Amino acid sequence: MEKINLQSLLKQMSIEEKVGQLVQLPTEFFKAGETTETTGPLEKLGLSKDYNVFNTGSALNVTNAKLIKEIQSNFLANSKHKIPLLFMADIIYGNKTVMPIPLAQSCSFDFEAIKDCASLIAAESYNDGYHVTFSPMLDIVRDPRWGRVMESFGEDVYVGKQFAKAMIQGFQGENSKLSSGHLAACLKHFACYGAPLAGRDYGAVDLSLQQFYEVHLPAYKAALDNGCKMVMTSFNTINGVPATGNKWLNRKVLRKELNFDGVLITDYAAIKELVVHGVVADEYEAAKLAMECGVDIDMKTAVFANNIEKLIANEDLNIDLLDEAVLRVLRLKEELGLFSNPYRGLEKPVSEQSVEDKKETVLNLARKTSVLLKNNGILPLDTKKKIALIGPHAELKGQFGMWAFLGERELSVDLKSALEKYFTADKLSYAEGSNILLDYSNLGFSTNAGDISKLFPVKNQEDLEKEALAVAQNSDIIVLAIGESMMESGEAASKTDLRLSQPQRNLIKKLAKLNKPMVALIYAGRPLLLSDIEEYFAAILYTWFPGTYGNIANAEILVGECNPSGKLSMTFPKNMGQIPIHYATYRSGRPIIADDVAYRFTSRYLDCSNAPLYPFGYGLNYSNFEITNIKSNKYEFTKDSLPIISATITNNSDIEGCEVVQLYIKDDVASISRPISELKATQRVQMAAWQSKTVEFKLEIEDLKFYNNELDYNSEPGTFTVSISNCSNDLENHVIIKLL
Ligand code: GLC
Repeated sequence: MEKINLQSLLKQMSIEEKVGQLVQLPTEFFKAGETTETTGPLEKLGLSKDYNVFNTGSALNVTNAKLIKEIQSNFLANSKHKIPLLFMADIIYGNKTVMPIPLAQSCSFDFEAIKDCASLIAAESYNDGYHVTFSPMLDIVRDPRWGRVMESFGEDVYVGKQFAKAMIQGFQGENSKLSSGHLAACLKHFACYGAPLAGRDYGAVDLSLQQFYEVHLPAYKAALDNGCKMVMTSFNTINGVPATGNKWLNRKVLRKELNFDGVLITDYAAIKELVVHGVVADEYEAAKLAMECGVDIDMKTAVFANNIEKLIANEDLNIDLLDEAVLRVLRLKEELGLFSNPYRGLEKPVSEQSVEDKKETVLNLARKTSVLLKNNGILPLDTKKKIALIGPHAELKGQFGMWAFLGERELSVDLKSALEKYFTADKLSYAEGSNILLDYSNLGFSTNAGDISKLFPVKNQEDLEKEALAVAQNSDIIVLAIGESMMESGEAASKTDLRLSQPQRNLIKKLAKLNKPMVALIYAGRPLLLSDIEEYFAAILYTWFPGTYGNIANAEILVGECNPSGKLSMTFPKNMGQIPIHYATYRSGRPIIADDVAYRFTSRYLDCSNAPLYPFGYGLNYSNFEITNIKSNKYEFTKDSLPIISATITNNSDIEGCEVVQLYIKDDVASISRPISELKATQRVQMAAWQSKTVEFKLEIEDLKFYNNELDYNSEPGTFTVSISNCSNDLENHVIIKLL
């Protein structure tokens, strides 16, 4: 069909019709059938009763293909200009098939596998008629008190850039052409939402511009450099100005410096919150400020709908700003082909992978996301031994994490079922053992979410423990499946105490008295504080929230069919007082001499070492890899001829496996003090038993650049210490090279 002329369409639209394109409303406003339903929510939202819902531009989180088709059909029948609705949803890391949470995915350091899973998600969602996903979440996070760390890629700038690229290419397809089977991606939350003061969600963010550009911007920029179609503003203020009303952030940085001319949507009701932030007096001013900042879509408030026409009539807003916003929304609809096919995906579903093929695609990632934190040799399990599988996560299906509401629970595999493939009934016993929490009311669900005790039933803890002790008594090895409730991580889930819940800690201590070897599988959406329980376990496998098929991978790892290769993409603190803690810290003029040297006048704590419990980049496996003999093909170089750094990796075992080889760089002397080390490249290296290989990294000048306090982005002559390792806290294998 001929390409629609958007300018001429714009000319035909009234101001009211234009404003409608900038409004996003949830299902209850469009539900096919009774028009009375549209008045109820209208008033509740504060929309005037004569708001014409059939002018609306997009729909939020409609939950299934049938409803999308019904709503689109009813909408077009009543839309004067036949401008189709955009359907957008939080398909963050899974539609029907749910991947491990993003924080787990990044532990794979397998960005191709991450991209393949994003493609799978896009195909499932395309067939359901979705057009835009509010993903990837690209907020860098160095504070595990903040519950949304589960949706992030973790603490590292390099990982963030690779993760962003993989997700955009997976969602949007080749060159972001949005071909069939693909979705428009919406990066979020712009910007710096992952750095709230005190680790409390929605909290203020206060940071230097040098840190903004060096640490927080790169992942967002990588997504835009790969063609990301949409951006979502964040709830937080940045240095006192809310992102949604921040001209510097949205006009100067996003639209000018990053050259983004796509759609900018607010987070949920964020425009209305400008009044609460106290930067505008009322919603009239909020609408004006947001429009002047280049915001295009108002998610789920009546602020644009109720005020833009008045602003223009009062000459408080230039209509050009309205037209530019409407054109960006129409252009996205055009790019998605909606004018010629408003039922994109619904009419001709793209040929999806079979369930088996999907399972393989997901397992190819899920086998690399769990991280083996401890193993005294008890893993892999001897399948001739009697195993007592105990814990509230052992039989749990749908361990999806908070942001996967479309996930098909019945498709998911629980750990017990997965283990039954390897153990006969007489070798595998089970007991729930404990509640996760004894009280769910503090999760903050409003009473209208239904009866909390029905949503989260609490059983008799004493009975659970008694049964578990009896089962464990008759076993050789205890495997504990423990961790967080899914609602303890995610949005509005900040915590000051990251230890495992009290009932689960009690169970661990009671079982430990049986003096049987114990293995822990820990399910969580964030790094938990494990210092007080680590000693009880012979092995710890951290599996995050593993998604639909993650427990298949966990069972394979437990019995040794899969050699674990996950590496932490986020530091695990030893003590809450160390938070925020991450590996790429800045130097002190008085560094500690060594972690166990209590020399007073050095940068240390009196009551805890500086070292984390488990560092970034750490993860065990069943092989025995050694990385040695680092070399550079040149030790002095210029900007246009950078060296190749190589090292030897050896598998000193008879077990084949994969090592995530990591290249760290420290800028020894620069015009501002640089981090003690920064990850600049990784390679997953597959090794046969007893094999030795050379691994090479070609340095790029980008690896040596940084922002100084004048925000100049450049490299500076001088020496660099380059290490190749398998963990951020072991950088001995290093060379010193010099940029002339
Ligand atoms: C939520 C989240 C955001 C999500 C949006 C739509 O509050 O902050 O990540 O995409 O609202 O549900």
